[in-house]
Amino acid sequence: MSERFYISTPIYYVNDVPHIGHTYTTIAADTMARYQRMCGKDTYFLTGTDEHGQKIEQAAQKRGMSPLQLADEVVQRYHKLWSLIGITNNDFIRTTEPRHKKIVQQVFQKLQAAGDIYAGDYEGWYCTPCEAFWTESQLGEGGLCPDCGRPTARMKEPTYFFRMSKYQDQLLAHIEANPNFIMPESRKNEIVSFIKEGLRDLSVSRTSFSWGVEVPNDPKHVIYVWIDALTNYISALGYDARIEPAGYVDDSLFKKYWPADFHLVGKDIVRFHTVYWPTMLMALGLPLPKHVFAHGWWTVEGQKMSKSLGNVVNPFQMIDTFGVDVVRYFLLREVTFGLDGDFSYKALIHRTNGDLANDLGNLVTRSLGMIGRYFDGIVPPADFCEQADEDIQALIIHTANEYHKYFAELAFNKVLASVWALVSALNKYIDEMQPWALAKDESKRNRLGMVLYTVADGLRAISNFIAPFMPDSAKKLRAQLGMSTEIAFADAVELANVNELKAGSKLGEVVALFPRLDEKEIMAKIQAEAAPVADKAAKDEKPQIAFDDFAKVNLVAGFVEDAERVPKSDKLLKLTVNDGKAKRIIVSGIAATYAPEDLKGKTLAFVENLKPVKLMGIQSNGMVLSATDAAGKHNLLFLPDGVPAGTIIK
Ligand code: ME8
Ligand code: MG
Repeated sequence: MSERFYISTPIYYVNDVPHIGHTYTTIAADTMARYQRMCGKDTYFLTGTDEHGQKIEQAAQKRGMSPLQLADEVVQRYHKLWSLIGITNNDFIRTTEPRHKKIVQQVFQKLQAAGDIYAGDYEGWYCTPCEAFWTESQLGEGGLCPDCGRPTARMKEPTYFFRMSKYQDQLLAHIEANPNFIMPESRKNEIVSFIKEGLRDLSVSRTSFSWGVEVPNDPKHVIYVWIDALTNYISALGYDARIEPAGYVDDSLFKKYWPADFHLVGKDIVRFHTVYWPTMLMALGLPLPKHVFAHGWWTVEGQKMSKSLGNVVNPFQMIDTFGVDVVRYFLLREVTFGLDGDFSYKALIHRTNGDLANDLGNLVTRSLGMIGRYFDGIVPPADFCEQADEDIQALIIHTANEYHKYFAELAFNKVLASVWALVSALNKYIDEMQPWALAKDESKRNRLGMVLYTVADGLRAISNFIAPFMPDSAKKLRAQLGMSTEIAFADAVELANVNELKAGSKLGEVVALFPRLDEKEIMAKIQAEAAPVADKAAKDEKPQIAFDDFAKVNLVAGFVEDAERVPKSDKLLKLTVNDGKAKRIIVSGIAATYAPEDLKGKTLAFVENLKPVKLMGIQSNGMVLSATDAAGKHNLLFLPDGVPAGTIIK
């Protein structure tokens, strides 16, 4: 019986469409699952969607649909994206499914029966976007949510409480006894100090909205969305599932796979997974997951990703432009799993051209090309080994060892770095062995064969190593090597085998694995596609406002007395604007559309009371208004000549 492995992603909220953040966690989990399967483990991989709760209810309301309609629509996007990316999940759980809801209710009843749930009143502050309760003292400045910085609402209502406080010591003891329960270390330390501040009992039901799983025998209450959501990890396995006929329990998957090996989550939800969830499991008398790994946060070009900033990276567009494997590779190569990372298309292009097209891509085409040229595309025999060949073989074995070691730590970037060390070594080996020179000397034919065999066998090993990350490219590479595209081993040890490539076998057609990308062309495509989407998203995102809110903006007429280019910037113009009282400097990113002469002597609409910002070292005091089209062309809001500077616009 083979060893088992169970890995999960968070179940994502359906109030939002999938973006690069969700894609990241899911690709990481998929890569790990593929790795474990490749090494012979019986692997179960779960993902899904979190469809209950107030914020889903509100998002649906805003769009004039029922919460389930919204969920049905958004879940399709997730299905589509995961199938596009080749995610190999064994199941997809939706919290609105009867199989899940039933188990959530059973879990609630079990906690009640164990005396760990009691009725009371809740008074506190609630953050709907985070679906989290806060006490007065936990709130940030101005009563804002300490996690996301958004406003919270005072809430007083009857509620059921879960006796979380009862498990404080047991949880601390568990964390101490299992130093890798919470990974990485920094997250563990954070959680330990949170627990040591004292765990309170947790409010686990709500009466103020109804979109959720009903509390058994008290339908005024719905079960707190996090109790509902966390239960997915066992409901999908049929924990305690009572399927008709009454009394029959099909919990074979649960018996087989629980406890999970890894819950992968973002750092935003680590507390739910390492405090709420384990204490619930303790109360249920169930074993805890072996590891909860919290990865870091992606920003985009240095900024937080947000719909209102219009910088949300759309994974569909990314895949359309770069292809699945490049995106999978980049996300796991670029940052250390566990740390924050910054996304930029430039970095993505550079990695593609560097690591993929130049390093690996060229290695494949030039070495297999030579086997084509000198050996008619037949893999030459491996004859006499010299030291340099043995060094390569030793490096393959070393790489396999590193590979397993780093995978165990979920250090995806280190796994890839060590595989790319092998890629570089093979490139260097070719440079030093100079097969093109050996080919000129008939007496060196055996040596030429050995050199090309060594490289091709190295590529065979690389096709295994990259398979969990870039499944399609791994298959293509194997097809070029004339090998079966299926990769599976009895165990992890087999991955370190060398000289496995069959001499005498015929190579497939040699084609470039990763075409080089033209940076200018790609950036233009991305910008053209992103602008209208971003503007629309930003517009859709904003709620209605009262006139008072609008009146907070001082929109006024400004007379442009002078305009000049900002040195070293092809985007910025520096305007000297008369606002009716004084002159002020406004820096504006319109230089691609307007020359300074176009603006001098013109009257423009501008925001007068915007906080000053520094652009290229120049303080800008206000903002001119422009209707900027999808291609980035600006259309400034000119006012008729003669409108006095300082005139209020409303
Ligand atoms: O929290 N960088 O769902 P959610 C990295 N339903 N990862 C990111 C990210 C970013 N900028 N943005 C999102 C929920 N993620 C709950 C979970 S689980 C029982 C319930 C990823 O839709 C990351 O994995 O808000 C994060 O934890 C998750 O999406 C949050 O997804
Ligand atoms: Mg979230």
